[in-house]
Amino acid sequence: MAPGAGRGHARGDGRTMSVPTVEEVLTIGQGGLRVAPLGVGTWAWGERRLWGYGVEYGEEDLAAAVRTSLDAGVTLFDTAEFYGRGESERLLGRSLRRAGRHAVIATKFFPWPWRRFEPRAIRRAVAGSLRRLGTERIDLYQIHFPLPIFSIAGLMDALADVVADGKVRAVGVSNYTAEQTRRAQEALARRGVPLASNQVQYSLLWRRPEVDGVLAACREIGVTLIAYSPLAQGLLTGKYGPAARPGGWRRAFPSFSAANLGRAMPVVELLRGIGADHGGKTPGQVALNWLIRQPGVLPIPGAKNERQAASNAGALGWSLTDAEVAALDRVTQSWRQ
Ligand SMILES: NC(=O)c1ccc[n+]([C@@H]2O[C@H](COP(=O)([O-])OP(=O)(O)OC[C@H]3O[C@@H](n4cnc5c(N)ncnc54)[C@H](OP(=O)(O)O)[C@@H]3O)[C@@H](O)[C@H]2O)c1
Repeated sequence: MAPGAGRGHARGDGRTMSVPTVEEVLTIGQGGLRVAPLGVGTWAWGERRLWGYGVEYGEEDLAAAVRTSLDAGVTLFDTAEFYGRGESERLLGRSLRRAGRHAVIATKFFPWPWRRFEPRAIRRAVAGSLRRLGTERIDLYQIHFPLPIFSIAGLMDALADVVADGKVRAVGVSNYTAEQTRRAQEALARRGVPLASNQVQYSLLWRRPEVDGVLAACREIGVTLIAYSPLAQGLLTGKYGPAARPGGWRRAFPSFSAANLGRAMPVVELLRGIGADHGGKTPGQVALNWLIRQPGVLPIPGAKNERQAASNAGALGWSLTDAEVAALDRVTQSWRQ
């Protein structure tokens, strides 16, 4: 289903909003994939140890998250062969079959150094992902991260091959620097394939792409910046704080230390205030809207259930004012390095 093709949808707070309008449809790079300027991340799907899959949430929750997202016009789902050792791809494939609707599937090649010395391992990896997803073609196939033992030219050649095979529609990279992105784009261009995207960490609490040249390079060469961890792994939703730290692995992360949570609280408070001025938008919705508003940026917040999917989709269909953006810019200056 093309985003923008009809129907109102639930916002998660009982009210309805219209689906994204045509102006809110984004084309990923020059690869022709058209999606709402928001996707769904599925790292947590099937990840027991890291995210609590099977304990806090299960397959039914994920199927509901998929249905709710599609209802909201959010059709892009980002997975990876690495997530849950293939379980994320399996769960996404099953949920999409149950929903019975068209979606745009992005997955990633994990360049294991000990198993995959050659770029041609990509053909085998694509076959595995297709099998787990239960589909005949992957819409966006990305290299998960750069690894020095693989030459960029060799990897891009292998990506162009799977496009030529008809197994992949568009190709992207992830965690690439500005210079690596340019080199990838040039190598693909020699084979007549556009580089569609570079997926990097980007949020109000991680603004490095603005200063390390990645955002500027993507814009200059027409590559979409897919923003991962756009909610700073839940911190920007406002549910965590010095007195409410998450359990599990996040507790050990510097960004979830009591000190850093304290440092982030003025940002969360500003998000809360701005959200109130927009009829009760949540801090997370405001944080996502800040990314959506930027040309060529596409956030993919992770969602574990229907409630989170509906809430995240509520970042669409409205816009922060310039003054609000300026205020958010000021309060997050120290997150720009
Ligand atoms: N390419 C890469 O190297 C790379 C790296 C990381 C991520 N990614 C991709 O980016 C996606 C998103 O990043 P992420 O999962 O790291 O972080 P995120 O999107 O910033 O945060 C996701 C987490 O925040 C919480 N959350 C989400 N929506 C919420 C809501 N509406 N209300 C309350 N809590 C909410 C959930 O965790 P809790 O409920 O447990 O708090 C959820 O798992 C991933 O799923 C993956 O597809 C890619």
